[in-house]
Amino acid sequence: MLKVENLVAGYGKVQVLQDVSLEVPQGSLVTLIGSNGAGKTTTLRAVSGMIQAQSGRITLNGGDITGMAMHDITKRGMAHSPEGRRVFPTLPVADNLLLGAFTRVTGSRPKGNVAADLDRMYALFPRLAERRAQLAGTLSGGEQQMLAMARALMLNPLVLLLDEPSMGLAPRLVEEVFAIIARLKAERVTMLLVEQFAAAALDVADFGYVLENGRVAASGPAAALKNDPAVRAAYLGAAH
Ligand SMILES: Nc1ncnc2c1ncn2[C@@H]1O[C@H](COP(=O)(O)OP(=O)(O)OP(=O)(O)O)[C@@H](O)[C@H]1O
Ligand SMILES: [Mg+2]
Repeated sequence: MLKVENLVAGYGKVQVLQDVSLEVPQGSLVTLIGSNGAGKTTTLRAVSGMIQAQSGRITLNGGDITGMAMHDITKRGMAHSPEGRRVFPTLPVADNLLLGAFTRVTGSRPKGNVAADLDRMYALFPRLAERRAQLAGTLSGGEQQMLAMARALMLNPLVLLLDEPSMGLAPRLVEEVFAIIARLKAERVTMLLVEQFAAAALDVADFGYVLENGRVAASGPAAALKNDPAVRAAYLGAAH
């Protein structure tokens, strides 16, 4: 569904990603793990068009999206829930969610049933249901994080990019977010997940890539990566 080939990208003259290739097959959950500064966020930004690739090729559902503007990539069905919550603070929760379906309403994405999907989001994220009329800017950090994820899902995306959905959350909320990701996976939502909790990410994912200094250092079925001694030592810590 999503294919990244030999991606080189960075900021200005600074090259962060050297030669990143990865694949997210339809209906699968792929995770990208690695140390702070390895280039995980940069990879998602380049894939969604938030930054431009310097070279390489990105295809979504068989179509070349390399070099396309972010809003055009959105229209092709890519949703990006970025690092750090990005919600519209002065709008209520419900309006934030509806804005996630904007391209469906304007006809650049298949319309489907927006009202039913809104209900689906409220079922998936009960906290948002209770707060649907509340201004997004007054939600707690964890609630805003969930809103950003739910808004991305309102696109009914072909691929959902999730950048650290558990960041800054209390342990109970982290569990809740992972349970939601597992449920989305059961519903065959195609996802590329970046997570600080590498062990938990590998537990829920089908396949994983380890990014080190802007390069893919290891990849494989998630279970195999989780048992790889080098990966365990470097990224999973002794506790896992
Ligand atoms: N907007 C930016 N301008 C310049 N350099 C940046 C920018 N954003 C990130 N970088 C640099 O790019 C490198 C990779 O950063 P990136 O955010 O992709 O890492 P990451 O793997 O997501 O790390 P983390 O786990 O801390 O989120 C870092 O060295 C970072 O300082
Ligand atoms: Mg990051």
